[in-house]
Amino acid sequence: MDKFVEVFPDQATLIQRALEIVLEKVKAAIAERGQCTIALAGGNTPKPLYEQMATQDLPWRGIHVFWGDERYVPPDHPDSNQGMARRAWLDRVPIPPINIHPMPTDVAEPIEAANKHEAELQEFFQLQPGEFPAFDIILLGMGDDGHTASLFPHTEALQVHDRLITVGNKDGQPRLTFTVPLINHARAVIFIAAGAGKRHALDHIFAPSADATTYPARLIQPEGELWWLLDQTAGQDLKS
Ligand code: 6PG
Repeated sequence: MDKFVEVFPDQATLIQRALEIVLEKVKAAIAERGQCTIALAGGNTPKPLYEQMATQDLPWRGIHVFWGDERYVPPDHPDSNQGMARRAWLDRVPIPPINIHPMPTDVAEPIEAANKHEAELQEFFQLQPGEFPAFDIILLGMGDDGHTASLFPHTEALQVHDRLITVGNKDGQPRLTFTVPLINHARAVIFIAAGAGKRHALDHIFAPSADATTYPARLIQPEGELWWLLDQTAGQDLKS
């Protein structure tokens, strides 16, 4: 694993750097493998990045968009990560609809939706049972509690190592989420986190030792590159 930690004076410069890295990796993936697979983070921080992506002239036919997690709501619900990314980016560019691979939230049981999306990934990546794909880019945020994707502290989802997709649990609310091993198979994982509220968790995530089930972002140790892009209030003086 190659780890990179960059701290920026403000969120705008953080987003600009994130855009630069994402664009470089999208173009490299398409040049090397004919396509780029990118999984998006939800929450608020990445929204301006998605708005910037909407201004780019990219080979959209070669870009496949997934989500690292999803709230269990319809895409038109204000909490939907899919809805946010479509409004901020995907509805504004000529990306083929079949290149957009949202997590299904229209199935009665969340575990059935997780199994359905896992099958979709297995089909897309032509996986053998038990095989994990290597996404080119997985974007992640981090909650003030140290969760990432929908891998929340002290939840069962943290212990799922034999699946691609599982059901997360936020205060009793079901979510769909990439599992830790799926994220860790990525070629590049890029965290973007801003705000003083993240500081406490980051201190524990960057500490030489801490309980990873309390701070789940510690579990993200990808085989490829690990990027932490932070603003000053979140990441000042962090020891990488
Ligand atoms: C979600 C996200 C979640 C998010 C963090 C940080 O569905 O909410 O995937 O993991 O990235 O909660 O959210 P902010 O960027 O809004 O601080």
